[in-house]
Amino acid sequence: MRSKCASSPSSAKTRAATARIFSRLRRASARSGRPVLEVMGGLFHRRELLSGGASAYSHRRTGDASTSECRAHTAVVRMVRAHSHPEERTMSLPLEGKVAVVTGGASGVGLGIAQEFVDQGARVVITDLQQGPLDQAVATIGPKSSGIVADVTRLANMEAMYQEVIARHGHLDAVVANAGIGAHAPLGAITEEQFDRTFGVNAKGVLFTVQPAIALLPPGGTIVIIGSTASIQPPAGMGLYGGAKAAVRAFIRSWIQDIKGSGIRMNVLSPGAVDTESLRRALGMAQGADAVPAAIRTMGEGNPTGRIGDPREMGKAAAFLSSDASSFITGVELFVDGGMAQV
Ligand SMILES: NC(=O)c1ccc[n+]([C@@H]2O[C@H](COP(=O)([O-])OP(=O)(O)OC[C@H]3O[C@@H](n4cnc5c(N)ncnc54)[C@H](O)[C@@H]3O)[C@@H](O)[C@H]2O)c1
Repeated sequence: MRSKCASSPSSAKTRAATARIFSRLRRASARSGRPVLEVMGGLFHRRELLSGGASAYSHRRTGDASTSECRAHTAVVRMVRAHSHPEERTMSLPLEGKVAVVTGGASGVGLGIAQEFVDQGARVVITDLQQGPLDQAVATIGPKSSGIVADVTRLANMEAMYQEVIARHGHLDAVVANAGIGAHAPLGAITEEQFDRTFGVNAKGVLFTVQPAIALLPPGGTIVIIGSTASIQPPAGMGLYGGAKAAVRAFIRSWIQDIKGSGIRMNVLSPGAVDTESLRRALGMAQGADAVPAAIRTMGEGNPTGRIGDPREMGKAAAFLSSDASSFITGVELFVDGGMAQV
């Protein structure tokens, strides 16, 4: 066994089990004429390979053979530890080893998602429209994050952003298409500009976030699109916004069929009201700054849970949809709304 791997098994029992699995993999490799890592590739959907397996795959894709051998070995050691010798289990975080992109991650829901992903083990690249807010967000999230300026409505921006992510990290495992804008536009007063902007960011922007990522994501890769309860219950004046959010829900019903066989999963996460700066700003503009706390309370009281959501709660749900815990869930719209749109 390769002693240079940091994950060398610690006990004789673990060493023996690891050696047994590795020699089986080598025999399968000799029989099929395919490299060990390719043989392992067939197992990547199995949860026991966890992030070690996924990383091995990604390293193989980038051609770093020695690292990938090592990662493959790490995956086997983890599997043995988890299944054969409970006393040697190491707690691994749900998103450990994963690289994630969160669009519109400089504030609000996206920032909460990025923070949660880092807490759950991922390295995160946040994207947004301006460098200043991105720098501030990266300082808040910490060293496992970095920022890239990219407008989701511009395909070339998004392609360049993904190339930069691969240059920085070597692989991409999870995408959260979060960037979105609200629009109060009652029927009778909707302008062409409002339509183009609302559907541009919320629908076209999702397409241009998802499409270029497909070729980069490995089997087991995930996409989470941030929708809204407005997809099924758009309030008065929010028809444009609700229409765009309903559109992304419809997109993925078709897209999961288009990518059949890729091993990539895709889901919509639809928040109810979430306590963000932008929500408070919008309430402040509509009702005056002094009325904001009462307005937030009133919004919460209308919810079965009696409160509105927190960005970190969107982060926890997005992490679930991006982790192995949801390995058989694809194409759903998961409402994370405290019950708001469910009654
Ligand atoms: N806050 C809520 O109550 C709530 C409820 C339901 C759904 N959502 C959804 O959550 C997502 C985030 O909303 P939020 O409340 O955090 O808003 P926010 O305004 O705080 O954050 C959105 C971020 O996206 C960025 N952004 C806007 N246009 C962009 C573009 N073209 N390219 C790249 N980045 C862009 C903004 O600069 C901002 O940083 C949106 O999709 C929104 O529809 C929010």
